[in-house]
Amino acid sequence: MRVQSQFSLLDYNTLRVPSMAEHWVEVGTLKDWSAAIDMSREQGWSPTILAGGSNVVLKDDLSGLVIHPIDDSVVCLEESSTDVLVEVGAGASWDWWVRYSVSQGWYGLEHLVSIPGSCGAAPVQNIGAYGVEVASFIDSVHCIDLQSGRMRELPRDECDFEYRHSVFKAEAAQWGITHVRFRLLKQSQLKTQYQEVANWLTTHNCLNPEPSDVLRAVASIRATKLPDVVQYPNVGSFFKNPVVTQATVAKLVEILPSLPVYALDNGVTKLSAAYLIEALGLKGLRYRGCQVSEQHALVLINTQSGRGDHCLELAQRVSDTVYEQFGVVLEREPSILGTSRDF
Ligand code: EPU
Repeated sequence: MRVQSQFSLLDYNTLRVPSMAEHWVEVGTLKDWSAAIDMSREQGWSPTILAGGSNVVLKDDLSGLVIHPIDDSVVCLEESSTDVLVEVGAGASWDWWVRYSVSQGWYGLEHLVSIPGSCGAAPVQNIGAYGVEVASFIDSVHCIDLQSGRMRELPRDECDFEYRHSVFKAEAAQWGITHVRFRLLKQSQLKTQYQEVANWLTTHNCLNPEPSDVLRAVASIRATKLPDVVQYPNVGSFFKNPVVTQATVAKLVEILPSLPVYALDNGVTKLSAAYLIEALGLKGLRYRGCQVSEQHALVLINTQSGRGDHCLELAQRVSDTVYEQFGVVLEREPSILGTSRDF
């Protein structure tokens, strides 16, 4: 385990803002994880986990010890006629894992293909797309307490999973995820209620779609709709879709009759944040080297900014304008790391 100092994080955040880690270490085994936590305690270096950096804004340099998981192991622990239990290392690429699982005949994750990031990051914001959230396929999350070094296994019910939320996001300074256990199905239960997916399958003559067809459909839709992260550095959706009351919906629909709304079980409604942003003409808005993507209004891209702050300032302008015009609060989706330049 090699500790490096003054380590550049440019290639470890998909927004591609320059930032330095005061100290950097890559952990491959549980022994490495324990050694890293011991070291952070002994040296007084506060630990921060940074994996693929696809859902974080680096506001500044990161002081203390930045821990980067690299274990990409996949171990099938149990197999029955109906399902499998598979343990995946936190460092495995999420997109690689989704494609591998489907190729093995282990189904469930096909709607979540082409999401940037790592397996260890997936539970943190409970990634979701096209009607599926990763939480539905998580059996348990293995993690390490970043303060005490104690290893824990949190069953799904103890992870506080909600829309783009989990205990790992709420208590980011507490937990490092080492492995995720997935319970996947041998028989597919495809969800094709999303019109875009259904349309793609029809256009491509998939009358009895297999999970691999759904995977191709979602990969193709995402490639068309969302800005390519390499060409246009970004962190995916910058805002969550807001959840509001029926009264708010009724008022909004008077001024925006085509506003997409999705009724949830508990009498509240989820709105399309992208629609609200586009309706105000904010798509394409530029600010200090950042821009609201021309392709998708929920995505902010770094065109030439050298600072994460600029992106956050643009996000603030967007959310302030939406609030002033529609009275709807947009909540930020990515996490922020690095708040002081103290070394
Ligand atoms: N829309 C616009 N303008 C745009 C884009 C979308 O008006 O520029 C409207 C359209 O009416 C469209 C609707 O918004 O029908 C919904 O758009 P989309 O299907 O792209 O979904 P989304 O609600 O904007 C969410 C997730 C995405 C996920 C898609 C597909 C959140 C915050 N975002 O986006 O997740 O891929 O659904 O399921 O929930 C991510 O979290 O980073 C992410 C990309």
